[in-house]
Amino acid sequence: MKQVTEAVPFIAFGGDYNPEQWSEEVWIDDAEKMQKAGVNLVSVAIFSWGVLEREEGVFDFSWLDKVLDILHDHGIGVCLATATASTPAWLSAKYEDVAAIDPNGQPYRFGSRQHYSPNSPTYQKAVKKLVRKLAERYRDHPALKMWHINNEYACHVAECYSSYSKAAFRDWLKDRYETIGNLNDRWGTNFWSQRYNDWEEIDLPVNLATFYNPGQMLDYKRFMNDSLFNLYKIEKEILREVTPDVPVFTNFMYEFKPLDYFDWARELDVVTWDAYPDPRDGIPYSFALQHDLMRSLKQGQPFILMEQVTSHVNWRDINLTKKPGIMRLWSYSTIGHGGDGIMFFQWRQARAGAEKFHGAMIPHSNSEESRAYREVKQLGSELKKLDSLVGARTPAKVAIVFDWENWWAVEMEGKPHNKLDYMEQIKRYYKVFYDRNIAVDFVRAQDDLSPYEMVIAPMLYMIKPGDAENFEQFTDNGGTLVISFFSGIADENDRIHLGGYPAPLRKVLGLRVEEFVPYADEHANTIVYNGRKVKNSTWADIIELEGAAAIAYYENEWYKGKPAATCYRYGSGKSVYIGTNPEAAFLENLLGGLLKEKQIDSPLDAPPDVEVLQRDTDQHKHLIIVNHNDHEVELKLNKGVVYTDLLADEQIENTVRAGALDVKILRF
Ligand code: GLA
Repeated sequence: MKQVTEAVPFIAFGGDYNPEQWSEEVWIDDAEKMQKAGVNLVSVAIFSWGVLEREEGVFDFSWLDKVLDILHDHGIGVCLATATASTPAWLSAKYEDVAAIDPNGQPYRFGSRQHYSPNSPTYQKAVKKLVRKLAERYRDHPALKMWHINNEYACHVAECYSSYSKAAFRDWLKDRYETIGNLNDRWGTNFWSQRYNDWEEIDLPVNLATFYNPGQMLDYKRFMNDSLFNLYKIEKEILREVTPDVPVFTNFMYEFKPLDYFDWARELDVVTWDAYPDPRDGIPYSFALQHDLMRSLKQGQPFILMEQVTSHVNWRDINLTKKPGIMRLWSYSTIGHGGDGIMFFQWRQARAGAEKFHGAMIPHSNSEESRAYREVKQLGSELKKLDSLVGARTPAKVAIVFDWENWWAVEMEGKPHNKLDYMEQIKRYYKVFYDRNIAVDFVRAQDDLSPYEMVIAPMLYMIKPGDAENFEQFTDNGGTLVISFFSGIADENDRIHLGGYPAPLRKVLGLRVEEFVPYADEHANTIVYNGRKVKNSTWADIIELEGAAAIAYYENEWYKGKPAATCYRYGSGKSVYIGTNPEAAFLENLLGGLLKEKQIDSPLDAPPDVEVLQRDTDQHKHLIIVNHNDHEVELKLNKGVVYTDLLADEQIENTVRAGALDVKILRF
């Protein structure tokens, strides 16, 4: 199989292209405008099933043949989609069992998109036929660079309650647990008389009188993730067989809860994702987090941003427009965080359909003078100068543990506090590093932690076999481990780890949590840290020290004077436990101190709201300096180093200036 950097040996630039919505004359206009704008890659046929297979078994590839030829003649490569993201009307009309069933037992109707059930054998059979046809037809087409499988799996329909899904769930459980006795044990079914004698007695967790069985619900979430993943694998297998050299991917969406992207990424040749931060949120640090997560899914391999919008989407209540320069600026932030491609939804703004008011690279005016096209063209010409960045890696010494199964489990009902928000906790810790321009990778607790000097595990409620030992080894070898409240509580079946909270982590943390004290929304307390007072909210752990030293205390309430945060020397490293949700100043101070101890610093000192990101290859290092301010900034460069400003094509030393909403890319 070709490496992605061989298939696309430049910064990918282009977007979703839906030529079937336009006439043939427009295709030529498209290709010419693409060429002028520096477009080198487009995703074609994502929603084309209905025009490729017009009736069952009646295929028409003539239009796609022409489109691919035109694109190739203009030097534009293609991520060819497998067109399975939306089924044609004839399929749904003829085979009702293609539809997914909603929680009320109702089938999703035809007329929108993504209404299929992943467990429908009819859908799977039709998919296999179409994908094989496409692969066999285009296997040797010179425009084919990569396969774009389906589209944003689960973006609209992430659950299905059909009889097929029920049968598949039972099979999935048999595979996982082997005996019904084992399942009863894992799900704790002696509670509320939930014991099963036979697999056939097991139903999907829907329409229940009250609280669900947490083990069952967690497994249903895993099962739905696996059902969708299986669809992807069905397509991938055919593509690999017919076109073994062509890389494959599907497009992810941000930190999307229903799908465990760490799991999926193993089967993708490149991670690609679709990003739509809301311009009203200001400087998008959560966007930066999403990039870092995407880069981490394949252990640092650069990702491709498969979709973003030039100006505005059409699916928010009010769709704010990115002001001039923002699309370019955010594109460079993407590249700085590990992006090897900047693609858009979509090339040409649609005339009809639900997305006709969604921005595009060419707006309705079709004018080369439009702001969207001018900005696209500028970016396209600049990206051509960045070939040396392709494949470049982000050096990170800090990792944050992020685990989808933990996310599912910690936010399921019946907890001491039922408004805990896992992502919010992750973001609070991430922001400390983001603000300091310290690169962060995301990892799972089972991953190799040896590349890192600091590992943060916020709210890691679920501890799986081997996780605690991995943390112990990391700390023993000199690492700094930071863990926050409500961690180490449950196993992978959401059963409590007995032996005093957080049982598996007591050894590495040197403490025991005697009790949880969740706070009402309006409640806050104060903790005292280094003689300073800071607010805490949400939760207080009542901590009993077992070797660890208290570094912060609660100031009030019946647990006044009890430790709120602790530190413990373990092997040649140390572990820090934060038993509450402290205000940001505390995290900045504490984590800032830990970074200092480890001498982990940003690549350059920078004023606020300036990102300084580093990406290295064997040959070069690069600094990507992204100025989100409305004014110019100046940064001191490292002494004695001569940098090449890649966009200006000039050498600089000592200082660098980045204008308002501007970027500098320095190679050294
Ligand atoms: C998603 C889809 C696209 C399009 C865009 C609109 O990312 O993949 O097909 O609907 O949203 O923002």
